[in-house]
Amino acid sequence: MAADSAFGVALVGLWHESAQAGGAVGFAAAAPRAEIARAAVPLVDSLRQGRALGVAADQARRLVGAAVLRPGQGTRSRTGTLELLMVEPALTGCGLGSQLLGELLTAARDRGLQRVDVAFAQDERGQRFFEKAGFTVWGRRPHWQQGPDGDRDELIMGVQL
Ligand SMILES: CC(C)(COP(=O)(O)OP(=O)(O)OC[C@H]1O[C@@H](n2cnc3c(N)ncnc32)[C@H](O)[C@@H]1OP(=O)(O)O)[C@@H](O)C(=O)NCCC(=O)NCCS
Repeated sequence: MAADSAFGVALVGLWHESAQAGGAVGFAAAAPRAEIARAAVPLVDSLRQGRALGVAADQARRLVGAAVLRPGQGTRSRTGTLELLMVEPALTGCGLGSQLLGELLTAARDRGLQRVDVAFAQDERGQRFFEKAGFTVWGRRPHWQQGPDGDRDELIMGVQL
């Protein structure tokens, strides 16, 4: 899937839907689409310019899943950060998220990365999901993210490729 403007529009739609469903995608459920679109623009630019790695899943030409990983620079050039991973809320639990993550980690390894981290608002199901993919907990930032019921810790997990 090319990182063109059509992809950008589809990505914002999926991202907005994921946020509305309460997913750990960096935005509150009530975040306006325009706010998410502002975050999507530099992400799609990075994908287009090869500064980020991405994988996507479509169903009947509709974007239903996406994952983006940003390799580090300089002394961090052998590590990377998973910036976004989301599956259309109606399609979760069918293995798509694991498949996207696996493909992205393979692409990261092929690019020479040795370690990848991810940070998200602490959530047991999310933690279990990443543990199944080989990630372990590396740390925690207290009260780092705002949640519907107050501030939440951010969990940092990582995997060696
Ligand atoms: C996390 C996510 C990508 C998993 O995709 P998926 O296609 O459902 O994943 P799989 O079917 O391969 O695996 C299912 C596991 O995913 C996790 N999961 C499912 N729904 C989830 C949700 N809403 N939030 C967090 N984790 C979830 C659970 O560990 C689940 O296992 P369980 O049913 O035994 O609890 C997807 O749920 C999602 O988009 N969540 C919102 C965004 C998010 O939390 N991204 C991860 C942080 S970057």
